[in-house]
Amino acid sequence: MALKKHILELQKKRQEVQMGGGEKAIEKQVAMGKMTARDRINTLLDENSFQEYDMFVQHDARDFDMAKKVLHGDGVVIGTGNVSGKPVCIFAQDFTVAGGSLGLMHSRKIVKIMDHALKMKVPLIGINDSGGARIQEGVNSLAGYGEIFFRNTISSGVIPQISVILGPCAGGAVYSPALTDFVFVVENISKMFITGPEVIKTVLGEEISMEDLGGARVHSEITGNAHFFAKSEQECFDQIKKLLSMIPANNKRKAVKTTPKPPKAAYKIGEIVPEDPSLPYDVRDVIKAIVDDSDFFEIMQNWAANMVIGFGRMNGETCGFVCNQPLVMAGVLDVDSSDKAARFIRYCDAFDIPIITLEDLPGYLPGVDQEHAGVIRHGAKILYAYSEATVPKLTVILRKAYGGGYIAMGSRHLRADFVFAWPTAEIAVMGPEGAANIIFRKEITEASDPNEMRRQKVQEYKEKFANPYVAASRGYIDSVIAPEETRNILLHALEVSVEKKVELPDKKHGLPPF
Ligand code: HXC
Repeated sequence: MALKKHILELQKKRQEVQMGGGEKAIEKQVAMGKMTARDRINTLLDENSFQEYDMFVQHDARDFDMAKKVLHGDGVVIGTGNVSGKPVCIFAQDFTVAGGSLGLMHSRKIVKIMDHALKMKVPLIGINDSGGARIQEGVNSLAGYGEIFFRNTISSGVIPQISVILGPCAGGAVYSPALTDFVFVVENISKMFITGPEVIKTVLGEEISMEDLGGARVHSEITGNAHFFAKSEQECFDQIKKLLSMIPANNKRKAVKTTPKPPKAAYKIGEIVPEDPSLPYDVRDVIKAIVDDSDFFEIMQNWAANMVIGFGRMNGETCGFVCNQPLVMAGVLDVDSSDKAARFIRYCDAFDIPIITLEDLPGYLPGVDQEHAGVIRHGAKILYAYSEATVPKLTVILRKAYGGGYIAMGSRHLRADFVFAWPTAEIAVMGPEGAANIIFRKEITEASDPNEMRRQKVQEYKEKFANPYVAASRGYIDSVIAPEETRNILLHALEVSVEKKVELPDKKHGLPPF
């Protein structure tokens, strides 16, 4: 009987906490199309798998009338559970409680679950819905964020860290995600900024909406802060599940292997690349013609779309794809596409995921805009990332491989293990037109028919250099292969690379061009 009383009391206490900021605040949250923190966790995790901790934690702030305030769970829900049967650590900030703002005890809860994730070597998922550092708690809130940033950094490359932005997130609530591996946003719901419109109005006298300042589209199309864009919270959770199914739980494991499946017959690899090198095509069709079941999981689809990155499986094993996209700006390398590829290469390398590069690009993008945006520094990141990566690196040159682009996109010289080229490959310092205009300028200008002379010289250059055989004669590429042979040759290359082990020189760490 006495026990029953205690149980009833426990249930009552739990219910109180589960009401977060109260009925009204929850109604407001739901009216904005948002789930509550616990609903989010329960929707994302396997049914009944969530185990919550620190439910009864309270803040102990005293300033600004805080002593009178009860903040249930101090505005954050933490715990462990499963996604598709695999364990994860998770936290979800509760915007209904003081705007999900981060006070000292709130931060200690997050830190506790982060420490568990690192210790247990399982992925960490953070659902962020927070106005950032709790203003009333002053430096204690800043200290809390500092502890989180430190753990984000120390855990980087050991366990996957996934951030979900599901509300207006400011300050530390966006800097922690920026330190994690993958950031998910949802249309109309996610906002990210270091300071909100209110502060901007006060400091700069400018009015701007939260959406224009840092909405989901801004971050998935303009800034590159977000890796995945969804139209609803449910779609976002499905994306997270898919991602988790394709990546390893930590840096000592492999992703779960699936039953090998051939690509779908609809993707005919020999018919995708047009014969005319000036015509575009969608490189994702080539990827889909190579990977198991034509299932390609693209990352950062709407930012720096001249570079395509993502995961696909080869005979059931996850591989990372880094591919120029001729459909967008001819697949050129620029500041953003270099950043995008370099970071992804480092992700694959940290988590032991082989990298497959599909190459077709006219080189680095020339021009004042790019030079002033720092294309030298940013473009160097991709050189660094490929050179440093010790996972199996396989490259297929589909068509153009010009200049710095040839070197940058996983060339033999940056230690690709296997480099293949289709017969349509053109490997040279620059494209035939540009090259002919420079090296045959005198002959062209002095000819009685300069246009005819240019045509002849372009043809001459093409025959000499715009093919894969010069590179093949030097051993810079290993084989010239037919498109239809690509999947099997890559599968073979992956198979023989399974035990690859490369030691880099002993050093504390290198200095990538951050
Ligand atoms: C304390 C906060 C808060 C905060 C919101 N609230 N942010 N309380 N500290 N940082 C409270 C509000 O007072 C309000 O409480 C409730 O949460 C909901 O907030 P609203 O403003 O009504 O919501 P909305 O209009 O949707 O605006 C959300 C917002 C805005 C854009 C996040 O609240 C905002 O701009 N907050 C401040 C953002 C910010 O500058 N944070 C500090 C960042 S510095 P009531 O009781 O009225 O419901 C930082 C340091 C880290 O984080 C440094 C990183 C390097």
